[in-house]
Amino acid sequence: MMYGRLLSATTSAAAALFSLVAVAGSTVSFTDDETALILAHGPWPVETAPDPSNRVSGDPAAITFGKMLFHSNDLAIDRRRSCAACHQIEKGLGDGIPRGIGIAAVDRNTMPLFNMRLNRWYGWDGKSDTLWGQSIAPILDKRELGLTAAALKSRITESPELNRGYGQVFGAAAATHDPETVLVNTAKALAAFQEILVSGKSAFDRFRDALATDETEGITTYPASAKRGLRIFLGRGRCDLCHFGPNFTNGEFHDIGLQPFLTTGRVDMGRYGGIKLLRASRYNLLGPFNDDPDRRTAGFTRHVRLTPKNLGEFRVPSLRNVSETAPYMHDGSKATLEAVVRHYSKIPEEHLRQDSEKLLRPLNLTDAEITDLVAFLKTL
Ligand code: HEC
Ligand code: HEC
Repeated sequence: MMYGRLLSATTSAAAALFSLVAVAGSTVSFTDDETALILAHGPWPVETAPDPSNRVSGDPAAITFGKMLFHSNDLAIDRRRSCAACHQIEKGLGDGIPRGIGIAAVDRNTMPLFNMRLNRWYGWDGKSDTLWGQSIAPILDKRELGLTAAALKSRITESPELNRGYGQVFGAAAATHDPETVLVNTAKALAAFQEILVSGKSAFDRFRDALATDETEGITTYPASAKRGLRIFLGRGRCDLCHFGPNFTNGEFHDIGLQPFLTTGRVDMGRYGGIKLLRASRYNLLGPFNDDPDRRTAGFTRHVRLTPKNLGEFRVPSLRNVSETAPYMHDGSKATLEAVVRHYSKIPEEHLRQDSEKLLRPLNLTDAEITDLVAFLKTL
């Protein structure tokens, strides 16, 4: 008897708790304006077409060869690392450390490689306008893989597997191509592989789809805390001024008031340096290696302007999968999502630029609001 009563008391306490949660969940509802903004962050995945600047984009043989190259230690001068050493699948295609380490340490945080077809610019500074252009850089960078075009050609020719893969995709042996052509072709196959790395539907996407079809169960299962965080994201936080659309980025560059020094006395110029590199590169969309004779995707590159405002700007990162890609920011300076949100809450006024960044101001969030915003980010 005793036992039974105890049990039923516990059960009804649990029932009371559940109904409380349900009430809290259902009290978070959205206005029509908010709903429209939420819907604009989908649907997911976004349909993409092959990259016209890369003739092997979408080609199954190139994807297979690109995957082999991505994991091959033959692409490193010391044969001890590959692209996958820094872009690790189990770490959201990053490396989990503040700044990447190849042959030597690099200056920036390793970027995750999901949803690459949706980018307009590549790299934190947007120094490349294509995925294949961006894929050339780590092969040649002395701190990353450290090869030359000539050394890459030998490595491919000497490896029976890579040699066969190259021939299958490009219709001739690497030995018959000049080193620069081998370099660009290798990067184009690497790009074909990276393009298929698309992130799956998230808890946010399921909520967004439920909202689109007015499907009650899907709406109520999305946690109340994430809903409150989402409301801050769209509203008072104004996060979606920059982290907008299905990929949670406007694809452009901003300065969010991080401290500017790489190490004492060394400043990362960000987009300012990126535009200079982009223009100087033979591997941009205006150069000889764009496979699209009409240069249909080259408009942004043709019109990009270098202004002092670009100093210290970095690309707005996508927030998809963001819970898997700590640490954060171009310099890896924020260890957790909570640290990121606390930065936006208390941006040092002296780091905010009077001239250009009118989009940001310290939000002065409460601890509960910070918890909610982080809960939302984790559903992406
Ligand atoms: C030493 C670690 C390291 C290695 C090895 C490495 N990467 Fe990266 N990767 C990075 C870092 C750091 C960045 C950010 C670069 C920047 O903006 O300056 C990056 C950025 C990228 C980006 C840009 C992503 C975006 O969203 O714009 C692509 C694409 C990429 N890497 C592909 C590759 C490929 C392909 C290889 C192999 C050929 C490779 N990486 C090897 C560390 C590495
Ligand atoms: C003015 C544009 C802008 C606004 C507004 C903005 N962000 Fe950002 N966000 C950026 C840029 C740019 C970066 C990268 C900065 C860097 O590394 O220098 C970034 C980085 C981040 C990152 C780190 C992602 C990563 O992979 O490293 C997170 C998380 C983030 N923002 C969330 C938010 C949230 C939450 C809000 C609202 C409170 C917000 N952002 C508002 C532009 C913006």
